Amino acid sequence: MRHRSMAIVTISCVLLSACTDGPIAEADAVREGQLIYAKECSACHGARGEGVGSASLTLGVVPPNLTGLKQRNDGYFPREFVSRFIMGRLEKDAPASRMPDFSMVGLRHVYPNGGADGEVLETDFANLLDYLEAIQK
Ligand code: HEC
Repeated sequence: MRHRSMAIVTISCVLLSACTDGPIAEADAVREGQLIYAKECSACHGARGEGVGSASLTLGVVPPNLTGLKQRNDGYFPREFVSRFIMGRLEKDAPASRMPDFSMVGLRHVYPNGGADGEVLETDFANLLDYLEAIQK
């Protein structure tokens, strides 16, 4: 009897740790994405995506509030649109606004020494999108 309950305890621990893998991995991705956001985007889009970073003052156009992407899209985070926009695959409303085309410049503030060869690594990009999704109102 004693052995049996030990076995059950062990099994539930294994199951529990398997269950916590998901959320913990997700939290890491969001944290990584936040670091990338802080270095590459916050100057224009604000510290928390609210759209008023210091560099935005000279752009002649107010960078959109990135926490409202979901609200502006019928309650659904437009991951595909956002990823195409960042990678310069969509026509800009304001071509003179100088939002960088990140497929051209890479994450140059994250890798100032050219660590990623100017390419945006898939995991970095996924983390950035996860962060943006996490800050939606
Ligand atoms: C130099 C300033 C600047 C930087 C840096 C910048 N943006 Fe932007 N962003 C803008 C401006 C201005 C717009 C407004 C529209 C345009 O460019 O056509 C914009 C638009 C967007 C949009 C479209 C939003 C909408 O509702 O249409 C997304 C998404 C976006 N930026 C995400 C990002 C992300 C993510 C980063 C960092 C990887 C970033 N931006 C870095 C200035 C910037």
